[in-house]
Amino acid sequence: MASKPRVLVVFGGDSPEHEISCVTAAGVASAIDPGRYDTCWVGIARGGAWVSVDEDTVRSYRIAPGLLPAVDPGLPSALLVRRPGGVEVAQLDGERLTGAVPVDIALILLHGPYGEDGTIQGLFEMHGLPYVGAGVFSSAACQDKIAMNLILAAAGLPVGPYIGISDADWRWDRQAVLAKAAALVYPLFVKPARGGSSIGISRVEAQADLAAAIETARRHDPNVIVEQGFTDMREVECGVLVDRREAAPAVSALGEIRVNKVDKFYDFEAKYLAEEQVDLVIPAPLEPDLAREAVRLAAAACQALGVEGLARVDTFVTAAGVYINEVNTMPGFTPRSLFPRVWAASGLAYTDLVTRLIEEALARPQGLR
Ligand SMILES: Nc1ncnc2c1ncn2[C@@H]1O[C@H](COP(=O)(O)OP(=O)(O)O)[C@@H](O)[C@H]1O
Ligand SMILES: [Mg+2]
Repeated sequence: MASKPRVLVVFGGDSPEHEISCVTAAGVASAIDPGRYDTCWVGIARGGAWVSVDEDTVRSYRIAPGLLPAVDPGLPSALLVRRPGGVEVAQLDGERLTGAVPVDIALILLHGPYGEDGTIQGLFEMHGLPYVGAGVFSSAACQDKIAMNLILAAAGLPVGPYIGISDADWRWDRQAVLAKAAALVYPLFVKPARGGSSIGISRVEAQADLAAAIETARRHDPNVIVEQGFTDMREVECGVLVDRREAAPAVSALGEIRVNKVDKFYDFEAKYLAEEQVDLVIPAPLEPDLAREAVRLAAAACQALGVEGLARVDTFVTAAGVYINEVNTMPGFTPRSLFPRVWAASGLAYTDLVTRLIEEALARPQGLR
């Protein structure tokens, strides 16, 4: 490795979170420590093309009224090449490869399918390139809400009542699915099993609307999860850092999401477009017993799911106790997102958080871990 490791930062992606990923990349571009790391920026455009983006362009990405940043698919193609001595990123200029630079580690700033679900992690495993964040299986398990609930429940961790509906279940035996769902108490939350950003999720108040909500979720994923809704709950999230050189995961201060619009859940609009609908309260004002339980569950969930690097564990805090909603292995990571903010509240500033994640990933052994 050269004196400074070169970090391949991958952002954009062919997903509904393309723009937010570009903004995250801009945040990382201003924060990553230039004294420690060189960088190489690769954007995945809508449609999937990989292109080389210069750092000034990355820094310019921001969301403003009428303006959403996007990776320009017309930029020079970027290629990942595995050579005997390591991995290089090159540009394709006509039929020639130019500008090849060695890269030592990947920082994946993508969310959802083909970013957070083990697919790109598998690509980097095949190239022998270390990367920040959870590995192939853990990423896939955390992306799939049915698989995640099975693993969490098997580890004795609390998840709410739900049913999983495979594509085959719905196409061949819809009546059996609806009969099973009748055991759940309304309201229900119907979700694509492997979605994100609340896309395709419906809150269903009555049985008459269930089938339509399942069809809506199926437009995003043929596999669907139907959950019993928690009412009177608080949404509390915890940042977790997992480093195999330490015996236990590190946990951050808790953050609470308060959606301050009646009858509304934390949907896509509240997450990204109408920030005035949401307050992030850090630290979450919880009774000490509940706070301890949320933090304990956050660490235990990451261990059960084999998370490496980082995760944000989202819980529902109710009078009956704390339940795990989901584990995100690439949580929102703009400087204003909850994950960096709960770490800042715990004494770890954004730049140091990025450094810590990169150093942890560089210290991991290659191969099966
Ligand atoms: N079982 C549930 N009970 C109550 N609210 C829920 C439930 N499941 C989801 N929600 C609401 O919907 C939001 C999005 O659901 P979530 O499972 O986190 O999906 P995503 O992976 O898209 O973020 C949650 O933040 C919460 O506001
Ligand atoms: Mg969520």
